[in-house]
Amino acid sequence: MIMKRIFEIDPWKVVTHTFNPEDKRLQESMTAIGNDYMGMRGNFEEGYSGDSLQGTYLAGVWFPDKTVVGWWKNGYPKYFGKTPNAPSFIGIGITVNGEKIDLAKVKFDDFELALDMHQGLLTRSFIYEGKDVKVKFEFERFLHIIQKEAALIKVKATVLEGHAKIYFDSTLDGTVVNEDSNYGTRFWIPLGEDKEAKTIQVKTKSNPYDVPQFTVLLKESLRHNGEAVNGEVTTEDAKLSEKFSVDLNENESYELEKDVIVVTSRDVEDKDQKAVANNLMTKLQEKSFEDNLADHTEAWKKRWETSDVEIAGNDAAQQGIRFNICQLFMTYYGEDKRLNVGPKGFTGEKYGGATYWDTEAYIVPMYLAVTKPSVTRALLQYRHDQLPGAYHNAKEQGLPGALFPMVTFNGIECHNEWEITFEEIHRNADIPHAIAMYTDYTGDDSYVKNEGMDVLVGTARFWAARVHWSKWRNKYVIHGVTGPNEYENNVNNNWFTNTMARWLLKYTLQRLPLATKKAQERVHVTEEEKAKWQDIVDKIYLPEDKERGIFLQQDDFLDKDIRPVSEIEDQRPINQHWSWDKILRSPFIKQADVLQGIYFLNDEYTMEQKEKNFDFYEPLTVHESSLSPCIHSILAAELGKQKKAVELYERTARLDLDNYNNDTVDGLHITSMSGSWLAIVQGFAGMRYDHNQLKFNPFVPDDWDHYSFKINYRDRLIEVYVDHEETKITLLKGEDLEVLVKGKKVVLKEGKTECLKD
Ligand code: BGC
Repeated sequence: MIMKRIFEIDPWKVVTHTFNPEDKRLQESMTAIGNDYMGMRGNFEEGYSGDSLQGTYLAGVWFPDKTVVGWWKNGYPKYFGKTPNAPSFIGIGITVNGEKIDLAKVKFDDFELALDMHQGLLTRSFIYEGKDVKVKFEFERFLHIIQKEAALIKVKATVLEGHAKIYFDSTLDGTVVNEDSNYGTRFWIPLGEDKEAKTIQVKTKSNPYDVPQFTVLLKESLRHNGEAVNGEVTTEDAKLSEKFSVDLNENESYELEKDVIVVTSRDVEDKDQKAVANNLMTKLQEKSFEDNLADHTEAWKKRWETSDVEIAGNDAAQQGIRFNICQLFMTYYGEDKRLNVGPKGFTGEKYGGATYWDTEAYIVPMYLAVTKPSVTRALLQYRHDQLPGAYHNAKEQGLPGALFPMVTFNGIECHNEWEITFEEIHRNADIPHAIAMYTDYTGDDSYVKNEGMDVLVGTARFWAARVHWSKWRNKYVIHGVTGPNEYENNVNNNWFTNTMARWLLKYTLQRLPLATKKAQERVHVTEEEKAKWQDIVDKIYLPEDKERGIFLQQDDFLDKDIRPVSEIEDQRPINQHWSWDKILRSPFIKQADVLQGIYFLNDEYTMEQKEKNFDFYEPLTVHESSLSPCIHSILAAELGKQKKAVELYERTARLDLDNYNNDTVDGLHITSMSGSWLAIVQGFAGMRYDHNQLKFNPFVPDDWDHYSFKINYRDRLIEVYVDHEETKITLLKGEDLEVLVKGKKVVLKEGKTECLKD
């Protein structure tokens, strides 16, 4: 169900010519920009007095906000980690002949707002119509992807009619408050302002949880035609404003550039921040706005060269995939190994920019193919570095071993709902599963043999203690869990959780003898432990209904009043229409659960098993997690259900563009954006890479002419092109490689294209 489409269809742009105040927040989410160092919602430079969420976020900067719960339970995390809404630096207040430009109040025409995905550039223009005056305003804004600390903004005012005295007021504002602050507190305290250097410096509040405080310094500098502009600077706590005016006659125009440098204590000590910001500003201003933009555009071009997915014949599908790739890269490009990928990136406050299992389950499979292997390895290392936190989490639950968190910045669990914190433990196998994906895809087993072994054994020890023996069933069982389907809590024997726990123990046992000597000594697994793990692998209970040929989502699933989602179309999304109790008792599934397991361990199941489970569970699924449609699309494609695969591709690719879940106002669904890439590459092109063999099984959707994409695979760059007559595979770079296409062996040679007719 398309909820709302407020941007036009365009293959390279997200553009609109209408401004509807009711959709302001949605528009802000959709026009967010970032450079994987910082990012912001599409707020207006001149300010806006109507409903809006001013949002600026800095990667890796976070604050532990004290937990709010009605009734404290032992083991609850003490805080919820949040990315504080950072000091805002885009402000350029504008007054024309005494009237403040505020699109919530003034008369204006010819509005355009566009995100150019090719170059990560946000532009906006409108004609202000005042008393006896008309002024056209044009804005450009980008966050430099080479000089990451730099934000560049340009505003051009052109008088179309009359005479205009225009006041500009460029601001830095550190008095920002998170909308989702648990106790309404301000996370930032002012450290000082400097009128001369045009800086403000703020620090996150102190906290009792040993979480480091972060300091941020912002510096601005204004230019006109490349020359410095110095207005009247005033300051107050955590705020700076620089004002000046220009007089313009009809047909005259004025261009103002605002350059901003943002440095944080993640990279620069508090006392050095001003000097470093000065140097960075000097470096930035060695070039004009246009030349900086040209460098930035060139760097984006390089990113697109290896990652663009081209779809001919369907611009809506094309726009969807490009929007998602662009937003993903604006959030995370793997250049800072300390960072991870938050579900909302820099586009909103919900989910607080923290790390979820989304990274391993959804980001890793795509990034393995579109970035260098070192990027995925850094994501794996991120979890390894957080093992102490994972041991802490298990201890909080009274269990041995390591329990990776559902939500975190530092390894310590900070999700504040018991059914997630204590119960959604499937994450503790999904996260290590990325080690297997990395090893299989890259062929590099140096991680699993060493650091990876710490992760596998730590999590294996947790699982071995979390299962218990049921005398009645004569099987190991896992009680009291929440599966990926969060629309059921506290269930027993969630098939997915049990299956993934089994996988983890089995994989650990297989890999352990191959680990380095040092790793083996470090983890020191006893014979008794190994025997216990093997026993669990052999005897864990995996609920199934043999008659129907399906795995059971959990012990009691078949007791539910099972009926298809088509019976409740008018009540969707159910999370916005129904009481929580009604949702929990219903048969409706939020996101892939059994099917998530079949997706992860794809080569372990027969086509018949896949088909029966798909046919049973898909009609019950409401896809109210953005992570859901892509998994279904991939499986539908594998099963030859092409229409369904395409429908679910559209849902995943245009989830935000069409606001399918009616929640894009909160921010974009960044971690599910990889799902559209996966739906094309693993779904339509049927790419698999198990057992050291790269395979494809492509088809092209009926209403597309063709599509093409590129992947990195074991030091090779491969291009795949699929149309209705043939599949063409080109080895653009690297050594010969044998691949399977529709089951047929093909040897790829550098610079050569292999054509396979359908
Ligand atoms: C999903 C989780 C996911 C989280 C963040 C929730 O709605 O159910 O699986 O980790 O969103 O994306």
